[in-house]
Amino acid sequence: MIGVFDSGIGGLTVVKALMESLPGYNIVYFGDTARTPYGTKSLDTVIDYSIQNTEFLLNKGAKIIVIACNTASSAATQVLSEKFDVPIFEVVTPAVEAATSATKKGQIGVIGTRATINSGIYERLIKEKMDKALVYSAPCPLLVPLVEEGWLKKPETKMIVKKYIAPLKTRQIDTLILGCTHYPVLKEIISAKTGKRVEIIDSSIEVSKALADYLAENPKVEKSLIKAESEKGDVKFFVSDITPQFEKTASLILKQKIRLEHVKN
Ligand code: DGL
Repeated sequence: MIGVFDSGIGGLTVVKALMESLPGYNIVYFGDTARTPYGTKSLDTVIDYSIQNTEFLLNKGAKIIVIACNTASSAATQVLSEKFDVPIFEVVTPAVEAATSATKKGQIGVIGTRATINSGIYERLIKEKMDKALVYSAPCPLLVPLVEEGWLKKPETKMIVKKYIAPLKTRQIDTLILGCTHYPVLKEIISAKTGKRVEIIDSSIEVSKALADYLAENPKVEKSLIKAESEKGDVKFFVSDITPQFEKTASLILKQKIRLEHVKN
């Protein structure tokens, strides 16, 4: 079973990508909706929550952990990798790989929560791969609440995206990393504002490709993930708090009606 966690329901963008690229695998998802958002919390708190979320998923039978949350990926990957004896996947490195391969001019934009942007992790990893790269980062704190509210096509959302993207456009980026779980849901609006010449890197898609490659190269681990009997795979969704709005947004992200199960973590 593949265990995926996020600070809330935005991480379902990663589940969606996994279901598309790795159909047939069982997935267990934990969304920490009671303690969301992580993007405004301290490093220590995000690390603590990430440890608890990982323990929850391992207790449910996960053999691989995917940190869907960019904030938790930037804060907690090293601690989780040291503490737990299972492969830990995170969303930052695969997005960096994709962006550095895609860029032609070496001018890369990154958008994310304040915590992710302030951590400087994207900039650091991009520079490690491409020392001449110019990285322009912009925190976009209003985008998560807009997605949570289901304001996916509203003029207000388009206006706010335009405002966030404008300084990156001025810098003439040719590649833009969507460094937050929620942003793939706004991909069309974002790409309309950046223009066709800017390659959009979706971390949910990149992490699912990285996991698929890893499983192809590690048949032993692959065998330890019990494949679902049904073609579609069995996917279970747990959350630490439940409201009708969470369920509505979750179904909107996955583009199918799903049932969230409330657990105390
Ligand atoms: N999941 C978070 C991320 O990808 C966004 C929501 C939050 O701040 O918790 O950074």
